Amino acid sequence: ANKLGTKKERTLALIKPDVVTKMGDVLELIYAANLIVTKAKMTKLTWSQAADFYAEHQSKPFFNNLVQFVSSGPVVAMELMGDEAVSIWRKLLGPAESSLARKEAPQSARAQFGTDGIKNVGHGSDSLAAAARELEFFFPSTIGHGPSNTAIFTDC
Ligand code: TYD
Ligand code: MG
Repeated sequence: ANKLGTKKERTLALIKPDVVTKMGDVLELIYAANLIVTKAKMTKLTWSQAADFYAEHQSKPFFNNLVQFVSSGPVVAMELMGDEAVSIWRKLLGPAESSLARKEAPQSARAQFGTDGIKNVGHGSDSLAAAARELEFFFPSTIGHGPSNTAIFTDC
């Protein structure tokens, strides 16, 4: 922890197909919150890749719709870095259900740009362990292990 008691973290931000054409708006929120983008990739997931990514939800009733949507078009995966990046990015997203976000967190990304519970702007890792796993999913290391093999921003 630094002198303010905060800690630099890395997290995975996955921008879903509903807002890949509004990346500028999402990036404004990210930079306003003092997070920086240390890796980024636009890609399109197969159904099976999206199912792997969301494996923790495979028994949920919304699993098929979620996987179908996330594999329906391009997504942008980003590694975000900054003080408490894991919780800050989830706070920027707001509650998963966009209508609830509009009530409870009107400034959040889901409130402003989300449609419903599935078309809801993006995904954020929910812990440091999830961040390590999810960053490895989109930005795999070729040597060794760990959340970040090609860290260019080591001094941030
Ligand atoms: P979850 O991990 O609970 O939310 P968060 O994105 O805030 O971590 O859910 C993951 C995704 O599953 C969510 O972005 C959209 C979808 N989902 C639904 O479609 N319906 C639901 O009731 C829930 C809880 C999630
Ligand atoms: Mg989640």
